[in-house]
Amino acid sequence: KAIVVLISGNGSNLQAIIDGCAKGLIPGRITGVIANKASAFGLQRAKAAGIATQVVSHKDYADRQCYDAALQTAIESFDAELIVLAGFMRILTPGFVQHFSGKLLNIHPSLLPKYQGLDTHQRAIAAGDTEHGCSVHFVTEQLDGGPVILQAKVPIFPGDDASTVAERVHEQEHLIYPLVVRWFCQNRLQQRMNEAWLDGNLL
Ligand code: GRF
Repeated sequence: KAIVVLISGNGSNLQAIIDGCAKGLIPGRITGVIANKASAFGLQRAKAAGIATQVVSHKDYADRQCYDAALQTAIESFDAELIVLAGFMRILTPGFVQHFSGKLLNIHPSLLPKYQGLDTHQRAIAAGDTEHGCSVHFVTEQLDGGPVILQAKVPIFPGDDASTVAERVHEQEHLIYPLVVRWFCQNRLQQRMNEAWLDGNLL
């Protein structure tokens, strides 16, 4: 399948998916990487892997509607069959989300439905949680509220700070996101109503 990845920053999850494709874990091809910032390091990762890139800057558009229309055009120019949000720090309009419904994945650094939004690691520590993690989910109009496909848990130890927890969570992100992309590309993943499920076994 043709995969388009949307990023805003470092792109370590993008890298995990690039590597997943290269290893044959993911039966798909990243046809384009789109960033909303020219400075996103993930663009360098894409170029190093020979993947086409495009910057669609939110600063060039008057409102979210116009921005999302431009984003949609860019995504469609890469013939996307799957859109992967990997640290893409923009809220998407309902029209955009509906247009790509069932083909839009996101990774969020918490055990959803806990800690939607930002600063998840710090919030989990502040709440005294002893575990934390990450979730891959289908994107719906509800921010960080779409059906969860796969989660990974990590412990929070006494003395941890947001950065040690973030690092632990990131390692898991790099394992679970390529796996979910694999399932999608194998046509084994479905979103129906507000549920997600997998056909077949884990690998
Ligand atoms: C990840 O923590 C992801 O959960 C969140 O944004 C971060 C992106 O990291 N949505 P990277 O750019 O993939 O390194």
